[in-house]
Amino acid sequence: MHTIPVENQPSFRVGVLGASGYSGRELCALILGHPQLTLAFATAHSQKGSTLRVKAAGRVHEVPLIGPDEADLAGADLVFAALPHGASAEWVARVIAAGTRVVDLSSDLRPGHGGVVHELPAGVPQDAPYGLPELFRDALRGARVVANPGCYATSVLVALAPLARAGLIAPGATVSIAAASGVSGAGVTPKFEYLFAEVTENYRAYGVGNSHRHLFEMRDTMSRLGADCDLLFTPHLLPVDRGILSTITVPLSRPLTDALEPFRAAYANEPFVELTTGLPALADVQHRNVVRIGAVLPTGMRQPTLLVFSAIDNLVKGAAGQAVQNANLMLGLDEAAGLMR
Ligand SMILES: NC(=O)c1ccc[n+]([C@@H]2O[C@H](COP(=O)([O-])OP(=O)(O)OC[C@H]3O[C@@H](n4cnc5c(N)ncnc54)[C@H](OP(=O)(O)O)[C@@H]3O)[C@@H](O)[C@H]2O)c1
Repeated sequence: MHTIPVENQPSFRVGVLGASGYSGRELCALILGHPQLTLAFATAHSQKGSTLRVKAAGRVHEVPLIGPDEADLAGADLVFAALPHGASAEWVARVIAAGTRVVDLSSDLRPGHGGVVHELPAGVPQDAPYGLPELFRDALRGARVVANPGCYATSVLVALAPLARAGLIAPGATVSIAAASGVSGAGVTPKFEYLFAEVTENYRAYGVGNSHRHLFEMRDTMSRLGADCDLLFTPHLLPVDRGILSTITVPLSRPLTDALEPFRAAYANEPFVELTTGLPALADVQHRNVVRIGAVLPTGMRQPTLLVFSAIDNLVKGAAGQAVQNANLMLGLDEAAGLMR
C-alpha cells in the first residue's frame, strides 16, 4: 500500500465548544495529539477566560478558554459541540449556518432526541447520521453533521448489533441490561450525589424503570437493525473516574454452541472492537477508543440465553474518541488517525 508521508497529508482546523467539560477536555487532548488536526479554538461557559492544561503528545499544552460567542466558527473546518443537551442544538445551528461541519456529542440530534420533544432550530437536520461507525460507516463518510452516540448506547449497541442483524434475539423478548458507569459520565457540574463522600466505597442504581435518555437512541437503532424486543436498562454509578461495563442478558431465538461466534463474523475487520474469550474489565479499555466484548452461554436455563459483557471508556469510545473517529470519516482521513486502540 502506498502511504503518504505525514508532512504531505491535509491538515484541518477544528474547534471545541465546551472544552472545560470532561468530554471537551478529552477532545482537546486527542486533537493536540492528532497528526492532521489543529486546535482552532476551545470554549467554556462559566470557566471562560481561564486556561486549560492538557496533557498530549508527551507534554502539557496551555489552552486559552474563550466564550462561544468569540469563536470563529466559519474559520474552522469542523467543530465538536460538547455541550449539555438542550444547550447544544442552538450552537449546532450556528455552526451549520457558518458553513462548517459539526459533530454533536449531546442527545439533541440523536434518534429520539433523548426523549425530549422539541423543535430543532432552523437548519439543524431532524435525521442527522448516527455516529456509530461500526454500524453505519457509509452514512458518516463526508457527512456535514453527525450525532455522536451516548456512552451507554455505544457499549450496548455494539454488543447487540450482530445478534440483531443475525435474527438471534428471540422475537418479543426482553433484553435486560445492567450497566455501571464511572462518575465522569455525569459531567463537570457539581451535584450533591456526585460528591466524593457520596460516591466512594458505594454502588447504587439510578435512572431505574427504563427512564434513562439513552433508551431512545438504543430502541430506535435496535429496530433499525431488525430486532423486535424490549430493552430493560438499569444504569449504576460506580466509584471510579471513567469506564462503563454493561452486562446484557439476551434471550436467543435459537441455541448457540459458541458464544462469540456472532461477534467474530461481524467484527473481524473492525479496528476498534476487540473480542475476548475471558471477561472484559474497565482497566482493559480506559484511555482507549475500543469496545471490548466477551460472551458466555449460561447453564441451567430453560430458554437459550446469551450473556454479553461490553466495556468502554465513557470519555473515549463513549464520547471524544468516537467523535474524532467520526470527524476522521467526515474529513476523508484515516478513520483511526489520532486514536489509541
Ligand atoms: N461525560 C460523558 O461521559 C459523556 C459521554 C457521552 C456524551 N456526553 C455528552 O456530551 C456533552 C458534554 O458532556 P460532558 O459530560 O463533557 O459535560 P460537562 O462536563 O458538564 O461540560 C459541559 C461543557 O459545556 C459548557 N456549557 C455549559 N452550559 C453552556 C451553555 N449554556 N452554553 C455554552 N456552553 C455551556 C461548560 O462550560 P463551563 O464548565 O465553563 O461552565 C462545559 O465546557 C453532553 O451533552 C453529554 O450528555 C457525555
